[in-house]
Amino acid sequence: MIDLHTHILPGVDDGSQDEPTSLNMVRDALESGIRTMVATPHANQVGRYENYDTPDLRERFEQLRELVRRENIPVEIIEGMEIYAAPGVGALIRDGKLFGINHGPYFLVEFPFDAKSWWIEDRIEELLEVDAIPLIAHVERYYCVQKSPELVYEWIRGGCLTQINKASVFGRFGHREKKAAKLLLEHDLVTCVASDAHSDEFRTAWMGDIQAYLKDRYDERTMLHLLKGNPQRILDGSPIAPHGKQLHKRRFL
Ligand SMILES: [Fe+2]
Repeated sequence: MIDLHTHILPGVDDGSQDEPTSLNMVRDALESGIRTMVATPHANQVGRYENYDTPDLRERFEQLRELVRRENIPVEIIEGMEIYAAPGVGALIRDGKLFGINHGPYFLVEFPFDAKSWWIEDRIEELLEVDAIPLIAHVERYYCVQKSPELVYEWIRGGCLTQINKASVFGRFGHREKKAAKLLLEHDLVTCVASDAHSDEFRTAWMGDIQAYLKDRYDERTMLHLLKGNPQRILDGSPIAPHGKQLHKRRFL
């Protein structure tokens, strides 16, 4: 299985702060059946976590891969970024300062949690204009989605993909996130589930609980679709057809 959203690159953001923590996180993932992890440090958070594409950043990815290899952990580490989609994000992608998952066409992007839907849609438009396909990180965590989850159907129709955090399903970010995550799953509005792991203690990379939940609530096929099939297509840059059932009625959570 594949985890598309992790903060395992040490010392670059609010995720893993050192190599031992990163190794623990990779081992946690392995223990729960993950064989490929995309390291997605926060990027384009100006003055905080900038992490633009530089030789230094590439070197850090390589060092982590080397560390995992040296420890004989059979997990592949892939390059990615969790891009803060501020105005101007399209130009930064066009200029090569930000890259997609595995340097492909799918860009993991996040917005402020309190962003208005029109603001998010302006950013989506910017991304699509430069042929970047937005993979919206933890889509269940945005307040506008919690209030009007039918927005997600429109965003997918418009060319976006969606990722939810495994911990949201278990209510670890709160009641609204849990309700939104489950509603989106029920309506096939989730392209993939990832850990968004930040440490080896809290928000971990262990994915056993979400695998059990998806198998139990749906079936093994659905679980593999969200944790392996779609993530593999994203890594390969292969197309993913629009999916999801329309939410006709506005449901206020
Ligand atoms: Fe993240």
